[in-house]
Amino acid sequence: MVLAVTARRFTVPRLRDGAEAASEQGPVGNLCGQVRRTMLTVWRRQEPSDEMKKSKLAVGLIAAMFAGCLQAQPLNPKMNAFIARLMSRMTLAEKIGQLNLLSVGFDVTGPLLSQDADAKVRQGLVGGVFNTYTPQAVRKLQSLAVNESRLGIPLLFGYDVIHGYKTVFPIPLGLASTWDPDLIQDSARIAATEASADGLNWTFSPMVDIARDARWGRIAEGAGEDPYLGAQIARAMVRGYQGDDLRQSNTLMACVKHFALYGAVEAGRDYNTVDMSRLEMFEDYLPPYRAAVEAGVGSVMTSFNEVDAVPATANRWLLTDVLRNQWGFQGFVVTDYTAIMEMSEHGMGDFRTDAELALKAGVDMDMVSETYLKYLPGLAAQKDATAAMIDQACRRILEAKYRLGLFADPYRGCTAERARTEILTPAHRQAARTLAERSFVLLKNDGPLLPLKKSGTIALVGPLADNQAELLGPWHAAGDWRTVVSVRTGLSQAAGSAVTLLHAKGANLVDDPGLRKLLQKFGSELPLDPRPPEAMIAEAVAAAAKADVVVAVLGEPAGMSGEAASRSDIGLPEGQETLLRALVATGKPVVLVLMNGRPLTLGWEEAHCGAILETWFGGVETGNAVAEALFGDYNPSGKLTATFPRSVGQIPVYYNHKNTGRPDTGDPGVKYVSRYLDIPNDPLYAFGYGLSYTKFSYGEVELSQTALTGEETLLASVKVTNTGERAGEETVQWYLSQPVASVTRSVETLRGFQKVSLQPGETREVTFRITPEDLKFYNAQLEYNWEPGAFVVRIGGSSVRESLKSATLHWNQAPAPAKAPGTKRGRL
Ligand code: NOJ
Repeated sequence: MVLAVTARRFTVPRLRDGAEAASEQGPVGNLCGQVRRTMLTVWRRQEPSDEMKKSKLAVGLIAAMFAGCLQAQPLNPKMNAFIARLMSRMTLAEKIGQLNLLSVGFDVTGPLLSQDADAKVRQGLVGGVFNTYTPQAVRKLQSLAVNESRLGIPLLFGYDVIHGYKTVFPIPLGLASTWDPDLIQDSARIAATEASADGLNWTFSPMVDIARDARWGRIAEGAGEDPYLGAQIARAMVRGYQGDDLRQSNTLMACVKHFALYGAVEAGRDYNTVDMSRLEMFEDYLPPYRAAVEAGVGSVMTSFNEVDAVPATANRWLLTDVLRNQWGFQGFVVTDYTAIMEMSEHGMGDFRTDAELALKAGVDMDMVSETYLKYLPGLAAQKDATAAMIDQACRRILEAKYRLGLFADPYRGCTAERARTEILTPAHRQAARTLAERSFVLLKNDGPLLPLKKSGTIALVGPLADNQAELLGPWHAAGDWRTVVSVRTGLSQAAGSAVTLLHAKGANLVDDPGLRKLLQKFGSELPLDPRPPEAMIAEAVAAAAKADVVVAVLGEPAGMSGEAASRSDIGLPEGQETLLRALVATGKPVVLVLMNGRPLTLGWEEAHCGAILETWFGGVETGNAVAEALFGDYNPSGKLTATFPRSVGQIPVYYNHKNTGRPDTGDPGVKYVSRYLDIPNDPLYAFGYGLSYTKFSYGEVELSQTALTGEETLLASVKVTNTGERAGEETVQWYLSQPVASVTRSVETLRGFQKVSLQPGETREVTFRITPEDLKFYNAQLEYNWEPGAFVVRIGGSSVRESLKSATLHWNQAPAPAKAPGTKRGRL
């Protein structure tokens, strides 16, 4: 029996049907007067002439020329004709203006539009802005573009909607820990509904950078270390944001980032350099970006790092050969923030040279640096080729606007009423709660100490126990800390009258004044308790002494992960570590509830705390979800998607590593093997690991056949039993190994997973269909294919080899040389 994913899905707002949305880029009946008037003006200006209508074929050919030699143009003759007509009326400056993306932000008292930006919008020198939202602010700026610029071309409105808009969900690393692409898709759908109601039409998400280094703060923003899971999540998020039809006003155009390899920065230091073999790129790092492209992502953001010694933003191989010619990407490419200018620091020449390199490489839109605006006019005057490239980039931006329906309704129906009724609704909060509880990973539970009884005395201790602001995480868009349920509030609401809840802060989040100042400068409040650390600890210890159990809510302040937040020591901040040791020394059982944006080193905590629950930064419903998990109203089911090292010295440490010629045998008497003298090779908590309040046992792997040929397929089944006394959910993972091949392979690679929900004592058979597609990899010639031989199928509840059940099979007959999926030549 093949089991479907059993996870509960929410009822999420449905996309409006085609009759309500503009089915063509023309006026529709249900728009308010102002929009209708504006739109009619735009439409009249841009309605294709009869002559143009008659010459669709010619227009199509011209469009194909604009689009570059190898890409097929989207089959949308009406759009092509419309844009060709529009572009025929644009000056060179206006075309370059479409390539210009400005940051127009807010201050604390409300929206402020930069004067400079206003003037540029009026002159047609801006293609889009980001950091402006609310219907009022968007309408104001958009009306400048459509009513006061010569051609009335609407603006894109972008924003970093990364894990929810006002309904803030867990950080992406937490979302990934649910292993539930359907629920993650729902979260993106809700984010799009809210953000579009507030006037936005473009999000700089999903961030799909594979990360194997927990020092890198941006590991918080992605799905972790695995390309297969990362690809599933990338697809889900693009679908969630964009829906089936971008013209519907409750969608956002997605932007997959950071293309490419940004998660592999050396030493985990943000913005640092990357050096990687092409084979590793294609095998381990590029699949999630590609999955987003296959899902139809509208835009791609370049990364700050170099790829093959050329900055990504100037890398024609990456942005044109791979992205467009091999993968067939049809949208537009935007740089990351000032990435064109930064190429000077990389050693690529002056700004003028940088602008030219970026354009030639395939960058369509310049985020903030304005080098395109400044230098492309001069370059175009010198070279016809540059003018053609500008046309091509401009066309891509206009196509995105057309697909978003902006020429039909530049405001996409955003109104104060819509924002009031569609944002932070009870249904959205419920979704946030469900995702939060499913994102938590139970790392340890001796005794079992958890779940807690709803009686007796609990000492709730720690700087994050009664905190709201940090729970939103490092990148929380328009999230408002006042909407967050703290752990203290959640626990006291769920505990009932039989529980006495004592509270003590115990420590400040950060003691180091320099770090505090830096974090505060960039948005964290970090209120300082002026008492000496000893006094705070004494208060916490006194509370612990009166309690049956201690719940210590500790971790990083949100600003210690995310952008420009790399750490060399990834343990708990020192003051909190001291507090924890004092609590453990009381002899009372300690439950450690962690909040953090990266894997931490937790050797001491693992050895001394009774239970550890990883909750990441859980978003607006954190407190309720933590209470459900601690009291057992929800049985934790999350699994790690990034390895927790024992020590920073092990980094990079990840599950799908290669073997060595001298693998560690585990025999301490043998010297010349690949190992550390001071710690084991294996991590503290592995990829895929996570406990439950129940236990699951796995039967042997049964294969429908063990000798296969060519394109045959195979079923691999395993019986999973809930051997405990509570209902629970298990994520059943299957890993592939190929012991012998023409290039070395990872010791194992995730190839599939299913979630099953089991009652106590219940057994279910979980079946995976295995096809030759699952066997494929990139060989030394970068051909994507499979090679005959022996394969090992491993199935279980984590990537730890010893915990997996396995079976071996042989797949014979060399297949005919195959193309890499979607490539022209099968080579990259
Ligand atoms: C820089 C970040 O790297 C990127 O992820 C983000 O989307 C842009 N800034 C815009 O805020």
